[in-house]
Amino acid sequence: MNEALRPAPRKENAPLKELDEWDDFVSTRYRPEKSEEQFRNYRTDANPGVTEFYRQNHTQQTIDFVRKKKEEYCGLKRGKKSIWEMAEYLNTLVDESDPDTDLSQIEHLLQTSESIRKDGHPRWFILTGFLHDLGKVLCLYGEPQWAVVGDTFPVGCAYSDQVVFPEFFAANPDAKVPEYQTENGIYEHHCGLDKVHLSFGHDEYVYQVARNYLPEEGLYMLRFHSFYAAHRHNAYRHLMNEHDEQMFAWVRKFNPYDLYSKGRERPDVKAILPFYHELVSEFFPDRIDW
Ligand SMILES: [Fe+2]
Ligand SMILES: [Fe+2]
Repeated sequence: MNEALRPAPRKENAPLKELDEWDDFVSTRYRPEKSEEQFRNYRTDANPGVTEFYRQNHTQQTIDFVRKKKEEYCGLKRGKKSIWEMAEYLNTLVDESDPDTDLSQIEHLLQTSESIRKDGHPRWFILTGFLHDLGKVLCLYGEPQWAVVGDTFPVGCAYSDQVVFPEFFAANPDAKVPEYQTENGIYEHHCGLDKVHLSFGHDEYVYQVARNYLPEEGLYMLRFHSFYAAHRHNAYRHLMNEHDEQMFAWVRKFNPYDLYSKGRERPDVKAILPFYHELVSEFFPDRIDW
């Protein structure tokens, strides 16, 4: 084939072998038995693909990009579908990988929600666990990996060095805009996270989809579950208000289920599905806007 005609190698735009490689990196980073020093050496846990992924994410998530993507997706103009249709659609993400070793996306969602259920948490909490990664369908809409997953961080203000791989922010065009590089940037001190633009990804999208249907505690879990700099490292407190502080207790409560339920046994999907059908119908109408 003529060199010039050959399509760009997939790897260039998709440094992760699959989206889950980012989730796996995060759970390695926060392995419970890790010492503080091992923790700070997270770079050694990242393979070259993961590192390249963060480089792309940190250099291309600008405030203009985030505004554009919110405009594109957060009005939910892509039509009506049921939660189940979307879960089936998300499942097509892993079709190409080895079915023996990889859990399907639905299985990951169910593993998360089942461990929440086993701990006796309320029904809305279980449902939140089941929904939390549905926003990854952005990838199937054609979004690059760096706009779907990754630790989220505020744009339009100074970057915290509590975000992983902070060195990559130097090449973000926003780093050269002085207005965006003060501590508060374009925001008011303690304005509340609802007024802050975070880097765009699956958290924001699934939050928008669910916002009319779940209790606020669950919505915080959906919207901020990848905001590790804040919920794990207490960065960006100057942008949060009292209410955010209270709600983040729930984000923190949710996080271990996201991080550590993966290694557990495969859920018996057939046996538990009736429970989930009933649960979804309790909170959501048949079809919702996406
Ligand atoms: Fe997630
Ligand atoms: Fe997850």
